[in-house]
Amino acid sequence: MMMMIEYCKLFLLVALWSVEVSNTAELRCPDTSLDAEVDKNVILQCLTVPKMDVSNKVEWVLNDTVDVHLLRNGKHEFVHQGKDYKDRTSLFDSELHTGNCSLRLKTKMTHTGRYRCSVRIGDETKHCFISLTVRPHELNPSDVYRRRDNRSSIHEKPTDGNNTGSTNTLSAGAIAGIIIAVIIVKAAIIIIIAGVICLPCHRPFEGVRQNDPDAPVAHNGPVQAVE
Ligand SMILES: *[C@@H]1O[C@H](CO)[C@@H](O)[C@H](O)[C@H]1NC(C)=O
Ligand SMILES: *[C@@H]1O[C@H](CO)[C@@H](O)[C@H](O)[C@H]1NC(C)=O
Ligand SMILES: *[C@@H]1O[C@H](CO)[C@@H](O)[C@H](O)[C@H]1NC(C)=O
Ligand SMILES: *[C@@H]1O[C@H](CO)[C@@H](O)[C@H](O)[C@H]1NC(C)=O
Repeated sequence: MMMMIEYCKLFLLVALWSVEVSNTAELRCPDTSLDAEVDKNVILQCLTVPKMDVSNKVEWVLNDTVDVHLLRNGKHEFVHQGKDYKDRTSLFDSELHTGNCSLRLKTKMTHTGRYRCSVRIGDETKHCFISLTVRPHELNPSDVYRRRDNRSSIHEKPTDGNNTGSTNTLSAGAIAGIIIAVIIVKAAIIIIIAGVICLPCHRPFEGVRQNDPDAPVAHNGPVQAVE
């Protein structure tokens, strides 16, 4: 009888202990949101606390609808896997027994969404979630170059490709024309000014010359006008 009671006590203790463990055990996703560039490998972290063997069953599901990676009865199941995830997912098999159920994912643009990591602990299935945002490739120098190229081609759209050269010569011609025009206008102004200055001084000067041919003003006058 005493033996029976002792046995019961022990059984109860063990039962209580295991219930307690499964109740307090948690599944944790340390990063609740993650940002990744497209076509890069990213790790969606998920782990049990305390560490426990999860090599029997782990599930990764997107938006509660798309199967991303399923491990059931210790086997990877790809039958129901979403087609966008084919050959792009893996678990760290050697770490499953330590509660590391992290998912390695090679990103696609369609992978943006909310990921659920699910593990069965005792009688309960625990979850944690990670929001993943996949963004396009970062600009590298060649992209910037291409963009600049694109912009300049848009800029040159009004004239076609072959006219690019003649456009340049045209603008060069225009500049030459402007310079010539400016020179002509300047020359005209000089001539007009010279004329205006000369006209009044011409007569007195002729008079001076007539009256006094040796006057210095008479000699300098015409020379200045020519210049
Ligand atoms: C799980 O294992 C992977 C691969 O060794 C490691 O990179 C990652 O940090 C581990 N995660 C945790 C939560 O231990
Ligand atoms: C998942 O959810 C996110 C956010 O609501 C959405 O942008 C994305 O298109 C969804 N992905 C799929 C495959 O349903
Ligand atoms: C130029 O821009 C268009 C869209 O604006 C894009 O489709 C095309 O690929 C670009 N071309 C280059 C050479 O980058
Ligand atoms: C440029 O000129 C060449 C020969 O003169 C011609 O074969 C080609 O089609 C032209 N290209 C454009 C965009 O006009």
